[in-house]
Amino acid sequence: MNETTNTPKKRVLSGIQPSGVLTLGNYLGALKNWKAMQSEFDCLFMVADLHTITIRQEPAKFRQQIYNTAAMLLSIGLDPSQSTLFIQSHVAAHAQLCWILSCYTQFGELSRMTQFKEKSQKHADNVNAGLFSYPVLMAADILLYASDLVPVGHDQKQHLEISRNIATRFNNCYGDVLTIPEPYIPKIGARVMSLQNPTKKMSKSDENVNAWVGIVDSPDDILRKFKRAVTDSEGCIRMQPGRDAINNLISIYSTVTGKSPEQVEQQFEGKGYGEFKVAIAEAVIEEFRPIRENFEYYIKDKKELERIFKAGAESAAHIANRQVGKVMKKIGFVL
Ligand code: TYM
Repeated sequence: MNETTNTPKKRVLSGIQPSGVLTLGNYLGALKNWKAMQSEFDCLFMVADLHTITIRQEPAKFRQQIYNTAAMLLSIGLDPSQSTLFIQSHVAAHAQLCWILSCYTQFGELSRMTQFKEKSQKHADNVNAGLFSYPVLMAADILLYASDLVPVGHDQKQHLEISRNIATRFNNCYGDVLTIPEPYIPKIGARVMSLQNPTKKMSKSDENVNAWVGIVDSPDDILRKFKRAVTDSEGCIRMQPGRDAINNLISIYSTVTGKSPEQVEQQFEGKGYGEFKVAIAEAVIEEFRPIRENFEYYIKDKKELERIFKAGAESAAHIANRQVGKVMKKIGFVL
């Protein structure tokens, strides 16, 4: 219950793939908000491991990445006594509802997904059916928990729209069964761009390591990457249309420090890019310092991680299984 309004807390669900190191983009676009939301909402956060096998993974590395991502959720300050933290594949209902919803999803709408187009170009030797139906699994993740809000970065907006469309289509057949989720996309920080090419999203899969900052990067690496960040020849620190590099740097500094872009512009009035870049690096280093220390602590004890995440999966499965039962009953299955 929400103690001030005396109404049930809204349900929040989100997920992150264990597909490698987590970046400043993941942090500012999603994780930082997850932490901020956990006291106000009824939150479930998951390591979206089923999504990750749409791209071929090396088994030992994949397993380690799942542990790393689980440890990272705790390290950023998600509290298992407040939020339900779990690993997607531990709750079988995700795959079950995914199949059901795929029968309510059109080939045409999946073909229009930009992420499918991009990923199938990038991995042209493995354009598997999972890559194509990826958004249906994401819809299942969200709809299983009757989620009201889904905090994500801008790149997931289209997947949220298709989840809403699938839910609406299902409800048109069977009545008010599924909750239509709302995306929760931050105004600033939802699109952290590459430090080397600010027209591209910051992504860990970028071959140029200077393009992205990892949450567990060393302070030296963070400083080096910001010092090398591309800028422009205007020489002033002001947000303006078309100034992708500077807009990106101002957004990063603004999101990390909590200052508005206008305050950032005032603070650096008449100052050079060199000074600005060092200030951003220092702010990011300070933001990540406790997280990196926590990470070193949590990753040491895999048994404890397993205990926490298994308990989370039990609570999640309790909600998810009931929802699948409800959906199956509406369709006419014999239960
Ligand atoms: P993933 O693992 O690619 O990214 C996790 C979150 O980080 C955000 N993000 C960014 N935000 C701003 N700037 C960037 N450069 C940046 N890069 C990543 C993403 O938008 C995302 O919020 N399909 C999802 C995981 C998922 C999920 C779900 C999310 C699976 N099921 C259900 C919400 C609800 C994904 O691949 O995110």
